Amino acid sequence: MKLAISGVTGRMGLAIARLAHAAADIELVGGICSSEHPGAGKDIGELAGLGQMGVVTTPDIASGLLGADVVIDFSNASAVAGLVHVAARHKIAVVSGTTNIDENAKKALDKAAQSVPVLWAPNMSLGVQVLAELVEQAVKRLGLGYDVEITEIHHRKKVDSPSGTAKRLAEAARQARPELRDVHGRSGDVGARPDDEMAVLGIRGGDVVGDHTVYLFGQGERLELTHRASNRDLFAHGAIAAARFLAGKPAKRYTIADVLG
Ligand SMILES: NC(=O)c1ccc[n+]([C@@H]2O[C@H](COP(=O)([O-])OP(=O)(O)OC[C@H]3O[C@@H](n4cnc5c(N)ncnc54)[C@H](OP(=O)(O)O)[C@@H]3O)[C@@H](O)[C@H]2O)c1
Repeated sequence: MKLAISGVTGRMGLAIARLAHAAADIELVGGICSSEHPGAGKDIGELAGLGQMGVVTTPDIASGLLGADVVIDFSNASAVAGLVHVAARHKIAVVSGTTNIDENAKKALDKAAQSVPVLWAPNMSLGVQVLAELVEQAVKRLGLGYDVEITEIHHRKKVDSPSGTAKRLAEAARQARPELRDVHGRSGDVGARPDDEMAVLGIRGGDVVGDHTVYLFGQGERLELTHRASNRDLFAHGAIAAARFLAGKPAKRYTIADVLG
């Protein structure tokens, strides 16, 4: 599989470059960075601490994608629409893990999926996919009378809140109880908790890779469903599994659930 990485100078981009370098079946052919990044025009292997690789970073999307079968994107929400547009034009499959994307980017992903396989997931962890399935099942089985609340904890550099994963878990709960509506904080004289409220709360600090807990509070008991990421490779492994899965597949929107089978 010939792979390009968008956001290659970032934490996730470099983690994927290291895993791709170690995989016998993957050849890294390009890496896209932002135009302002000091790493533009640098060897990806050197940036990733792997020594010379002979593949340099570029802010030019078309040349960064040249020769790729699949692009893995962990960049910035504002970059997603432009990337997938060019990838679709060049028949390159897209795996994107970039979070906090807007309607424009979502439409671009849908449009690209008419000509290439596309998988966007706010959390590439296979464990989080299973957690989402468990959340839907638990909320459905316990039903009304159980209060659902979600917390997420991330490192101090994370720029969006709540996390894409917390939103994904809220959606999973809503599959079972569509009336649940998100609140993102409580302060002052807010009154008793209504049944249809579901707090989705972000905590930021230190170097936490990502913890998510979904609580179901009942009378005299509570259920806590927790996922803890202990290092970033977890997401990189999931993204690479998704890229391998997409290679050669027909044009369509796919999900991490499809990768799990
Ligand atoms: N789905 C998942 O499982 C998962 C897991 C972890 C993270 N994420 C998400 O993935 C994204 C990246 O996370 P990260 O921790 O790797 O962040 P990061 O370290 O800040 O890396 C983002 C990279 O994207 C680059 N970038 C910005 N604009 C770009 C553009 N127009 N074209 C190409 N590259 C561009 C940035 O370059 P500059 O430094 O020059 O701006 C930076 O190198 C975030 O949205 C994050 O929430 C998702």
